[in-house]
Amino acid sequence: MTTPRIFNFSAGPAVLPEEVLVEARDNLLSLGSSGIGILECSHRSKDFEAIIGEAESNLRELLGIPTGYRVLFLSGGATTQFSMVPMNLLGPGTVGDYVLTGEWSKKALVEAKRVGETHVAATTEPEQFRRIPRNDELHCSDRSAYVHTTSNNTIWGTEWHHEPDAAGRPIVCDMSSDFLSRPVDVARYGLIYAGAQKNAGPAGVTIVILRDDLLRLDQAAQDKLPIMLNYRTYIEHKSLYNTPPVFPIYILHLVLRWLRRFGGLSAMAEHNRQKAQLIYDVIDGVSGFYRGHASRDSRSLMNVTFRLPTEALEEQFAKEAKAAGMDGLKGHRSVGGIRASIYNAFPLAGAQALAHFMRNFATRNG
Ligand SMILES: Cc1ncc(COP(=O)(O)O)c(C=O)c1O
Repeated sequence: MTTPRIFNFSAGPAVLPEEVLVEARDNLLSLGSSGIGILECSHRSKDFEAIIGEAESNLRELLGIPTGYRVLFLSGGATTQFSMVPMNLLGPGTVGDYVLTGEWSKKALVEAKRVGETHVAATTEPEQFRRIPRNDELHCSDRSAYVHTTSNNTIWGTEWHHEPDAAGRPIVCDMSSDFLSRPVDVARYGLIYAGAQKNAGPAGVTIVILRDDLLRLDQAAQDKLPIMLNYRTYIEHKSLYNTPPVFPIYILHLVLRWLRRFGGLSAMAEHNRQKAQLIYDVIDGVSGFYRGHASRDSRSLMNVTFRLPTEALEEQFAKEAKAAGMDGLKGHRSVGGIRASIYNAFPLAGAQALAHFMRNFATRNG
């Protein structure tokens, strides 16, 4: 008998579609009729070639990626992109602009500073990152090579609900925590990157979508880059210079098929909106007990963050929720409170269960 699954509100690695897990389980011993399990399959095999090829074409279709963009599958997590972006895009005399909307964008800036010149184009840190800046608040450098943004701030629970506009400068976006959760106008971005472990698959693969003309470093500068930190390596070898994360790419490919069956990104966006609404309605409706962290216009549909009247009540909330079959609700260690992460594969029934539990908890403890 298998252990029953519970509602997993983890911020990442996060819940995956059950049908994907079942299919992966079945393919552990033999991928199709090959007699070789997916964990044992060569990255140079025809089977894997088909998997990575289909993953790329489904990604292109789901996101409507225009021609002129490369799709790369890397390892090293989104954190490696904090370094690869400036190493590959910041030429001499140019500046990396950073929009600071949370801890991850601050970390991206720290890494860029190690590589070259940087500038903070906007920050909402003085407001405890409660909101996303408006486009008219972005003040970018004249010598900007790119403007770095973070579309969803996993820790604080805020999300961009408008596309950033940097007056023609290339926008680089860390989409790790809302990748594939809604349609995106890819043509507005120079480079998009995302660690897979929230919406797209397990930890281990990072997706990079890169506009061809963005790599402007001269040959000598390029040659100095370590081979594994050079986007051209992945472009020239179709992400197969060395052994890629085979299993995470396989799961990503199953998740992309699942997303297509779901109806694509518009259907997924509606599903995500419904789930988030259920929880925000309780935050707004039970007056004074729950305090949402994000300003209303910047609320994340992926990570709902809120506080209770005391830390002791927050502890009790997380403990009782766990006993009721809802785990992973404790806020990030740096900010505390409660965080409900409700990515694509998180079911509507789980959001309903949490909303019900929240009402009940407030009645008992308010
Ligand atoms: C928005 C964002 N960027 C970057 C990261 C870091 O990702 P990784 O652990 O894949 O390096 C995270 C991880 O949670 C994240 O949420």
